[in-house]
Amino acid sequence: MFTHSRSDFPQGFLFGAATSAYQIEGHRFGGAGRAMWDDFAATPGNVVRAEDGAVACDHYHRYEADLDLLKAAGFDAYRFSTSWARVMPDGRTVNPEGLDFYDRLTDAMLERGLKPCATLYHWELPSALADKGGWRNRDIAGWLADFAEAIMGRIGDRMYSVATINEFWCVAFLSHFIGAHAPGLRDIRATARAMHHVLLAHGTAVERMRGMGVQNIGAVFNMEWATPADDSAAAAEAAALYDDYYNHFYVSGAFKGQYPDRIVAALGDHLPDGWQDDFPTITAPLDWAGINYYTRSIMAPNDGPWPHHHAVEGPLEKTQMGWEVYPQGLHDFLVRIASEYTGDLPLYVTENGMANADTLVNGVVQDDARIAYFNSHLQAVRDAIAKGVPLKGYMAWSLMDNYEWALGYEKRFGMVHVDFETLERTPKASWHAFKAALAR
Ligand code: FCB
Repeated sequence: MFTHSRSDFPQGFLFGAATSAYQIEGHRFGGAGRAMWDDFAATPGNVVRAEDGAVACDHYHRYEADLDLLKAAGFDAYRFSTSWARVMPDGRTVNPEGLDFYDRLTDAMLERGLKPCATLYHWELPSALADKGGWRNRDIAGWLADFAEAIMGRIGDRMYSVATINEFWCVAFLSHFIGAHAPGLRDIRATARAMHHVLLAHGTAVERMRGMGVQNIGAVFNMEWATPADDSAAAAEAAALYDDYYNHFYVSGAFKGQYPDRIVAALGDHLPDGWQDDFPTITAPLDWAGINYYTRSIMAPNDGPWPHHHAVEGPLEKTQMGWEVYPQGLHDFLVRIASEYTGDLPLYVTENGMANADTLVNGVVQDDARIAYFNSHLQAVRDAIAKGVPLKGYMAWSLMDNYEWALGYEKRFGMVHVDFETLERTPKASWHAFKAALAR
């Protein structure tokens, strides 16, 4: 049970659940093209058991039953993503089957009274575009806008909201500097270019969709609270730098048209020539902003090369990912983003949730830790609203267990359990907790 009810939130506050295309659909179906996640997963050592999204949850065929589960729990909205490689298998040419799928999915949401909240790009870059340098290539701005035009030309008239990019930091830094996500690069110059190009592509896609009349356009930024490991000035600097390249960089670009000084000082030589001239596009006005929040990191300085720091283990309770449970960070980010960047712009929590080693016993998954996680984060949301943050909705990650990227199918984030042998779905106790709270 949650200690919160729908009636504790403002009138019209949206509750939803989020998923993404590659993580659930089954990339092998419907004429989708090869994506960089297929390549990444096929390379030994990148993904647990080298698992990929070929079948995933087979949502491609089971989407109606999955939407029934959302509806039955009383959710108002469904945050889904549109696979670029499904819509354009070579990144440039439209696959009619791909458009047809998202058309059916949209109508199925509307039939159930669910608000469709689309995300254009949740990471399955077509391999053909990765061949051309992917996010390192400035041309990706036009490619993304062309993809936006193709998919939103078909479903844009029926979307409640459209986000350009899911998690700019993951697209750029996690994937090009840390190398933990596709394309798995560990290269400072590639990173700086991807950091800038992902913002340029975002703005270019916003402008294209505006021109088409698409409504309610936003973007989704992931944030991780940065806590210094101790009271030293060096630890404070380590945390501040992490905060800058993780949390401030993308919202600063999109909403202020500038990059944090520390980042320009460190990466300026690697940014593409003329980057300063792109801000008029990067700052294309938005109708809302989304924040994905899971945890914090504790940062300590070191003598290594930039960024001269590393994360150390924290003392708080941890999820199956090893991530600390720190709801205060969600509250603090919401207050910070509204006060420093977005003002009165509607904000949404577009992802929040936890992985848990759930087991199905006699048809029941008693995921009490997840109920407690959601409950404490919903409290953080209520506290932020009480402080005047214009928060309009909360989306849980995720509707169902799915392909957790480099961690394969091992980490379960769902409110609905998926048996990856039979693909059978079983609502967990957390799904029932949402259902009860949303009815109150
Ligand atoms: C976020 C991603 C999402 C999922 C969760 C756990 O970074 O947007 O796809 O993997 O983390």
